[in-house]
Amino acid sequence: MPLHTQVDASSRDEELDVNPVYVHELGTEIPRYRLPAHGMLPRGALQVVRDELILDGNARLNLATFVTTWMEPEAEQLMAECVAKNMIDKDEYPQTAELERRCVNILSHLWHAPPGSQATGCSTTGSSEACMLGGMALLWRWRARRQAAGQDAARPNMVMGSNVQVCWEKFCRYWQVEPRFVPMVPGRLHLRGAEAAAQCDENTIGVVAIMGSTMDGSYEPVVEISQALDRLQAEQGHDVPIHVDGASGGFVAPFLQPDLEWDFRVPRVSSINASGHKYGLVYPGVGWVMWRTPDALPEDLVFKVNYLGGEMPTFALNFSRPGAQVAAQYYNFIRLGREGYRRVQQACRDVALHLSAGIAKMGPFELLTEGRDLPVFAFKLRDDVTGYSVFDVSERLRLRGWQVPAYTFPADLTDTAVMRIVVRNGFSMDLANLLLGDLRKHVTVLEHHPQTQPPPEIQRVRQSFKH
Ligand SMILES: Cc1ncc(COP(=O)(O)O)c(C=O)c1O
Repeated sequence: MPLHTQVDASSRDEELDVNPVYVHELGTEIPRYRLPAHGMLPRGALQVVRDELILDGNARLNLATFVTTWMEPEAEQLMAECVAKNMIDKDEYPQTAELERRCVNILSHLWHAPPGSQATGCSTTGSSEACMLGGMALLWRWRARRQAAGQDAARPNMVMGSNVQVCWEKFCRYWQVEPRFVPMVPGRLHLRGAEAAAQCDENTIGVVAIMGSTMDGSYEPVVEISQALDRLQAEQGHDVPIHVDGASGGFVAPFLQPDLEWDFRVPRVSSINASGHKYGLVYPGVGWVMWRTPDALPEDLVFKVNYLGGEMPTFALNFSRPGAQVAAQYYNFIRLGREGYRRVQQACRDVALHLSAGIAKMGPFELLTEGRDLPVFAFKLRDDVTGYSVFDVSERLRLRGWQVPAYTFPADLTDTAVMRIVVRNGFSMDLANLLLGDLRKHVTVLEHHPQTQPPPEIQRVRQSFKH
């Protein structure tokens, strides 16, 4: 969450400017940064907060986020009914715990955990927490192996592409693991096998492979990475496990690319995470993490909570969490089934391919991906387009509420500025055609009115997406 700082003395006593219609009813002023001395009636409070929130963007038009922005009314009702249940109180809410257990089992099946392997998993607040847990298990296992062999365990590292989501940088910083980033280069926008293996040594706790990249929606080749690590093991003896960050793809590949091997079918994959609140189709925040076998998850990371007179093992960074998202995940599973998920994800892919083809035909743009892996694609302006930038295009699209982020790639492609569209459930073909029409119009305007580009410090502020 953003860190907020105490406001300075000149703002401390500011009051909210409330519509005069409500002032009479409220009968009181509302300090902006201090707790009011007295409360107010619910209707007034609701209106004051709603009035403030009208400036937020329209979530359905937010094409930057991977996170669910539409669920059907029945799911919303179920969530409202479950919001007061605390996930951690397994003893008090045993059926919510049971739904979580069923979801873990459904996912272990979808991700091809070998029968009888006792694959183990849990829900989390999202993929970030799930990645932290996955990374911690890798770190603990590596450390135990080194210590058991009487070897130095002071300098762990983790190998990943520079296109990883920021949660992996956080993991490395918080747990003091050296991040070894394989840079992006023109023509290679994500991690490949040879480059991953070249960065590994005896201190590598694991390699992160992403399904798919936050930057452009492409899948990293898990089998190729695994084979490169097999060769490394044969030549140098380092046995390096893979964690698959399937934040989005964990809920897409099983339905759209069922024959693609990226999950527990690949023996070197020891753990997988996914966001229930992305293509799992649940409102934020729910994620999932799963380990191939119980011994992939070291025993001393597990805490026990009361459950039906006994104890239930848990692994989490936080304690309390609403049960609503887990109930909604289970609702989606039984509501949609395998075929329903396939249809939803296929519709997203159809829209993504239609949009990317339309953008490619427009003239000034060049696609970096088409939306064939995740229904997500990135595009840039052709090198000979100099009169305006992707930041200008992004800003103009906002005129009608479209939020299409523009940003620069990470190392070593920091000079490449792109736009990215994430197609999610609820973004229809009709909306896609309206977006194409608007984009065409803005491009024509920009071609007739070349823009002066601001200095880099302002340009940085214009970047509408920080992964
Ligand atoms: C590949 C990848 N990993 C991890 C995350 C973090 O996920 P969450 O927002 O569920 O914490 C994201 C978010 O976009 C992502 O794309």
